[in-house]
Amino acid sequence: MVLRARIAGCGAYLPAQRLSNDELAALHGLDTSDAWIRERTGIGFRHMAAPGETASEMGAAAAREALAHAGAQASEVDAILVATSTPDSAFPATAVRIQAQLGVTRGFAFDMAAACTGFVYALGVADSLIRSGAARCVLVIGTEVFSRILDWTDRGTCVLFGDGAGAVLLRAEPGAGTTADRGILSCHLHADGRHGDILHIEGGAGSTGGAGLLRMAGKEVFRHAVTKLAAVVDEALAANGMTHADINWLVPHQANARIIEAMGRKLNLPRERVVMTVERHANTSAASIPLALCEARRDGRIADGDLVVMEAIGGGLTWGAAIARF
Ligand code: UT7
Repeated sequence: MVLRARIAGCGAYLPAQRLSNDELAALHGLDTSDAWIRERTGIGFRHMAAPGETASEMGAAAAREALAHAGAQASEVDAILVATSTPDSAFPATAVRIQAQLGVTRGFAFDMAAACTGFVYALGVADSLIRSGAARCVLVIGTEVFSRILDWTDRGTCVLFGDGAGAVLLRAEPGAGTTADRGILSCHLHADGRHGDILHIEGGAGSTGGAGLLRMAGKEVFRHAVTKLAAVVDEALAANGMTHADINWLVPHQANARIIEAMGRKLNLPRERVVMTVERHANTSAASIPLALCEARRDGRIADGDLVVMEAIGGGLTWGAAIARF
């Protein structure tokens, strides 16, 4: 008998303000166009946090929905893992702010910084906590307010990102130790710090300088994304003795429709088996996978028994994949 981390519920939160490409361009006086943004990225809209709205508030809203979806009480939660690059403050962790907002008074809570790969990293750590018996009921949350770290004079980055939060509730359940078990089957995490500067935040707490704004060498990240994501998905499938044909759904990090479509083709998946939210959400970094997962699970696309592959790449460089059966 093994312990499995079953995805028992999921939740999402998107701020009320929603801006089209044209509205964003007009608001910030950007020399860009809806046509350029759509053609290069697939992005049409993004949500923006209200002034004063924090990553913890958005994360708590998504977590409440995940708890309700799972039919769980906040008092059952014994660990909260938050993936974010835009925490309320360097410390205390956004995870403990969420813990307090949910009224959870037991267990432990901490943040993880792996940029856009943060949710996959947090799933991997949560899965290990559950398999080891260290925790039985874990909230994994991705929450981001990238609108606060964008350079509104850099049209090459500021049009790409949006704000939002997504959450899943993981519950320990006995499994047979086969790939027919429900829950997370495996997570595969990677980092290569030699590429740390191609996507980073210049400045911030503890830094010797910089205004705390995002910088990206987009073409270089794109090049790494296409090769590393395909390799890590193949690594995850091989670890479970599976092939592309076993995948029911791909739920990728939502950075760019061209990267997502290339991955779908590599995996021989028809378009309708690839969950895409990038047109409506833009890139919400660590929140993008749980937002997409929640949408497809709650609208009935992802059914009980389905095999779901999640993959992401982001600042670090970090990248990874997770395979789960619902
Ligand atoms: O979430 C973490 C992972 N991140 C990613 O996966 C992002 C990966 N990278 C990308 O998605 C793409 O590289 C971008 C969408 C960021 C950029 O697309 P690109 O095809 O690599 O364009 P580029 O940066 O090479 O720029 C091409 C042209 C340039 O003009 P010139 O030099 O050819 O005259 C840019 O100045 O497009 C120009 N440009 C724009 N034009 C209109 C850059 N941004 C804009 C813009 N509107 N917003």
